Amino acid sequence: MKATIKINPDKVIAKIDPRIYSSFLEHMGRAIYTGIYEPGHPDADENGLRRDVLDLIAPLNLGCIRYPGGNFVSGYRWEDGVGPKEERPVRRELAWFSTETNEFGTNEFMDFCKKANVAPMMAVNLGTRGPQDAANLVEYCNVPSGTYYSDLRRSHGYEKPHDIKLWCLGNEMDGPWQICMKTAEEYGRIACETAKMMKWMDPSIELVLCGSSAKDMPTFGSWERTVLRHCYERADYLSLHQYYNDNDGDLPTFLARPTDMDAFIKEVAAICEEVRKEKNLDKQIYLSFDEWNVWFHYQKEGKRPPHWQQASPIEEEKYEFVDALVVAGMLNTLLKNSDRVKIACLAQLVNVIAPIMTVPGGGSYIQTIYHPFYAAAKYGRGSSVCAEIECPSYKCAISDSVPYLDASCVLSDEKDMLTLFLVNRSLTEAAETTITLPAAIRAQLAMMQQMTCDDLHRTNTIEDQPVAPVTLPELPDFENGSVTLFVPAASYQVIRFSLS
Ligand code: AHR
Repeated sequence: MKATIKINPDKVIAKIDPRIYSSFLEHMGRAIYTGIYEPGHPDADENGLRRDVLDLIAPLNLGCIRYPGGNFVSGYRWEDGVGPKEERPVRRELAWFSTETNEFGTNEFMDFCKKANVAPMMAVNLGTRGPQDAANLVEYCNVPSGTYYSDLRRSHGYEKPHDIKLWCLGNEMDGPWQICMKTAEEYGRIACETAKMMKWMDPSIELVLCGSSAKDMPTFGSWERTVLRHCYERADYLSLHQYYNDNDGDLPTFLARPTDMDAFIKEVAAICEEVRKEKNLDKQIYLSFDEWNVWFHYQKEGKRPPHWQQASPIEEEKYEFVDALVVAGMLNTLLKNSDRVKIACLAQLVNVIAPIMTVPGGGSYIQTIYHPFYAAAKYGRGSSVCAEIECPSYKCAISDSVPYLDASCVLSDEKDMLTLFLVNRSLTEAAETTITLPAAIRAQLAMMQQMTCDDLHRTNTIEDQPVAPVTLPELPDFENGSVTLFVPAASYQVIRFSLS
């Protein structure tokens, strides 16, 4: 097939918020225990944090990490996880039917954030708890001293406030699986009152309101409208969550899912606009896509972990090459919507539906999906700009016309580098692709990286990393404002131009 991509660096979609390269760590499975935290591990530091895992997290240069849940937060008593470890209670944890020892809590997470050089995105429990407990946690974390909770933090060895700026008002409160799920009216009211108290406690914080837990929830749309009507003035962001699967083995549809994510974002943004106009306000609510990924392999295998274990290995997805293509497409969608999406968390970070895996007491490694995330987080900084694609399209279960090629493009802040992230969704056909830049721009190809694989279902393991990008040794000339490249079937490319 033949394709053209016209890049126009002057057509700026938006400056990219670095927080779209964020992630998520929940008290779930082995994300925390034997994931990031394993005292006694040969690589553990003085806080029990695994250095080998920190080393794999560092290159991602994450904006923030959402914590402690997820569904876990809806039953969490944050006081259980602070203070002397030997006094912390062990509890049955009802989101994942595990045993929570509370050895790791808020302060340990903040130690981890410092080591990982990321900002925290802290969630409060609006399932079993409410406004007062949330405000207490803000007091514990953000008030310098001289009050009950701030002095309690100091007595726990943390003299300086943690100064946590970003907070989530609960998690997936529309989901029947959620501990103490709520109707939109119930959630809207409690979220509004909680937001009031949290911001009165610390006016410098920003708040994320729960949207629907997925686009296919029966209440999607009406939920957003209702909670925004209650909370528009108090919140700063509205959340979106979406995981895609290939349960039917329908790869063309699976690869088209980033188009569905795009429609989801646009629909939610339109609802925000509708409520903004209804209320006659200038203030914009931005979007926090705070859970996104591919997720289905573990469940498809029908694995059911036994209940009430500590850190049993649940939802340990083994990501395939094709999953990395879908993740690359989802990153393109986030970049193309960077005018609205300011925060996005790849869910999750370690062991549970994660790009990074560990062996208890042993090594660690990266999965296929790590690669597109790493490339976007490394080269996708600056402004998102328009890349117009003309190429053939295909029909699948979710659309009559899905373009085979999918791309996003980023202009660096210095305006000296332009990076194109390109996915070819065709499973059989390469694309002879002509990329053009406006005539006035002098450019040269600076780098081309390619990810292809002879087996779409290939995975990486601790022993073997067959799925990885390859930097092409020779670059074609960029002449008369264009270059023609051969884009292999089922591939991901990172193409960088230096501009002068
Ligand atoms: O990320 C795993 C789970 O998926 C989270 O706990 C929940 O919010 C979502 O349903």
